[in-house]
Amino acid sequence: MVDRIMPEPFRIKMVEPVRVPDGAQREKALEIGHYNMFGLRSEDIYIDLLTDSGTGAMSKQQWAALMRGDEAYAGADSFFALKNAVKDVLGFDHVIPTHQGRAAENVVFGTLAKKGDIIPFNMPFDTTRAHIFNVGAEPVDCIIDEAFKPEVRHPFKGNVDVAKLERAIAEYGRERIPLIMVTVTNNSGGGQPVSLENLRAVSGVAKKHGIPLFLDAARMAENAWFIKMREEACRDMSLAAILRACMDTADAITCSAKKDPLVNIGGMICCRTEALYQALLPRVILFEGFATYGGLAGRDLEALAQGLREMTDEQYMAHRVAQVNYLGDLLEEGGVPFVKPAGGHAIFIDAAAFLPHMPQTAYPADVLAIEIYREGAIRGIGLGALAFAIEDEKTGKLILPKLELYRLAINRRTYTNSHMEYVAESIVNVYKRREKIRYGLKVEYAPPVKGLHHFLAHLKPYTL
Ligand code: F0G
Repeated sequence: MVDRIMPEPFRIKMVEPVRVPDGAQREKALEIGHYNMFGLRSEDIYIDLLTDSGTGAMSKQQWAALMRGDEAYAGADSFFALKNAVKDVLGFDHVIPTHQGRAAENVVFGTLAKKGDIIPFNMPFDTTRAHIFNVGAEPVDCIIDEAFKPEVRHPFKGNVDVAKLERAIAEYGRERIPLIMVTVTNNSGGGQPVSLENLRAVSGVAKKHGIPLFLDAARMAENAWFIKMREEACRDMSLAAILRACMDTADAITCSAKKDPLVNIGGMICCRTEALYQALLPRVILFEGFATYGGLAGRDLEALAQGLREMTDEQYMAHRVAQVNYLGDLLEEGGVPFVKPAGGHAIFIDAAAFLPHMPQTAYPADVLAIEIYREGAIRGIGLGALAFAIEDEKTGKLILPKLELYRLAINRRTYTNSHMEYVAESIVNVYKRREKIRYGLKVEYAPPVKGLHHFLAHLKPYTL
């Protein structure tokens, strides 16, 4: 049964027209874009669910805040507005703005990790993983086994398996582990949350071994909302208080501000100690800009400061998560297999179960992306073998990821519930004709950058 959907807690002040391209236009767009969703142009798309990153709508308070931007190179008022918001909402004393999340990762891993190091994780996002590889280190997944079972409902499928974490520390040794990182929510594993209890347990292990704990906090507010909904001990706490309690478990965070903090561009590193802050700054100057702007304009810092305060609005968040869930309910009614329960920012369709007749090496998640685009001019993204397969350095054999997913990421405050109905109907139509989808994809070109294949790959369909 689909529950009655919660209406949008906002009204629309400015509209952005979007058009539905016809079938011929869609075919042409696919060809020109080399059958890669990143190769499509916005004008060829009706509903764009490629990512929830930087694609949300800012509030009128954020647009007003832009006008307060102080563009001083050093010590801008806008930096201090951000610093105050970080302290109030997250509790960290230090903030380093960066131009987006991966820039924060570059600064953190480039400064703290080196060749041969190991970074224990629940699961890293693709750019995070690529930055770890880039310095010659390696992430080690320590997530609970339920994360790999799309049909299994578990309230906190992003949780770290603490026993796996302890084993990783014992196996590789503390000296090879500069930090532990937990992604909240776990984007690569279906946008699934991590419980506060689990964060506290991981924090305990990290402290015991004297290893700093970092959070990848891009979706920290959605994670906190799931904790409020699902963790008995936190039911009566406010969203803001839960978020703060989560932050209290960590020594530092990297954050893409393009997600929960509700801005179109921006990122940051927050930390507690002056020593870590100072250690990170040289690389900020090298790659981002001065310490008080980090690659952003003063006005961007203002919008981010305001966005940080808005992300803990409970009515906003209740609707956001309900909207994603609504899309999930509609797909479930149509029999479409996806990662259960629905994630915070996205629905992750199980492409392996959707197209069971297709080998993973034919890239079923990316075939599904093409078919859903053909059906409804909807853009989502494959997150399977094309994105995550890696070559074993010793044997040259391809190591395939355990999950073959297709993601529909819901932009914040951008699409209405009726858009969700259109998306679900289109995908159910594809599901009904799934047996007739009999082609795979070949990679005709891929860039020589480990872990970043899918962004730039040229693909070509072949008959299976
Ligand atoms: N960490 C997580 C969990 C992410 O989801 C992303 C980006 C990043 C870090 C990097 O941040 O894009 O600002 O440089 N995820 C986007 C996505 C791109 O589509 O999920 P960024």
